[in-house]
Amino acid sequence: MPLRSARDRGVPRDAVHHPLFARYYARISVGAETRMGMARVRERLLAGLSGRVIEVGAGNGLNFSHYPGTVSEVVAIEPERVLRQLAVEAALRAQVPVDVAPGAAEALPVKSEAFDAAVVSLVLCSVRDVPRALGELRRVLRPSGQVRFFEHGRGGGRVMTFTQRALDRTLWPPLSGGCHLSREPVAALREAGFALGPYRRLMMPENGPALPSSYCVLGTAWRPPGTPE
Ligand SMILES: C[S@@+](CC[C@H](N)C(=O)[O-])C[C@H]1O[C@@H](n2cnc3c(N)ncnc32)[C@H](O)[C@@H]1O
Repeated sequence: MPLRSARDRGVPRDAVHHPLFARYYARISVGAETRMGMARVRERLLAGLSGRVIEVGAGNGLNFSHYPGTVSEVVAIEPERVLRQLAVEAALRAQVPVDVAPGAAEALPVKSEAFDAAVVSLVLCSVRDVPRALGELRRVLRPSGQVRFFEHGRGGGRVMTFTQRALDRTLWPPLSGGCHLSREPVAALREAGFALGPYRRLMMPENGPALPSSYCVLGTAWRPPGTPE
């Protein structure tokens, strides 16, 4: 499918520029597949998907090898140049067709209602404008299309949430490619008009120490039928 350029939608081609973080993430994320059990999470995130899928903030493409054969095409949007290049290489190894393109969640360079499903994993923490990004996911999904999400966010007791907020105001976003620790992805999906399907909270790493980034949620949400874009 021809993609509309990101520029047409008011977002420059490289809307996200975190080359140091990108190289760091590319290295640690591969190890986390086995060490932290991320490969198992990705398998669960994508199980049962079919048809045309858009993955937003695809990073270095670690989800690609987990898409089931029932998926006919994945359009993978990645704004960061270093990660996008790695995603292109991962797409070549994938078992389903994956088309990697530049763009940002806040202005997806694709037509409305063109996808059966949308995937975000560890992305809503980093986008600049969560409501706008979720509005875009809604726009590009067909009615009754689903969002699969795996995100981290606010969690733990008072000390932990205080720590998360303090880190968000200071060191964390500049050191972590714009990531925030105290966002609430489930509430954000609900506020954006998605119907929440099953979701479960989990800690990552599952059996390790509770870190400010450990409070994760894995689940499904739907664009309700008969709702406007
Ligand atoms: C922690 S990485 C996760 C990558 C990948 N989804 C995964 O599961 O490994 C966060 C990703 O979000 C991307 N990102 C940041 N801001 C974005 C935006 N505004 N629109 C789309 N992607 C964005 C980053 O470039 C990066 O690839």
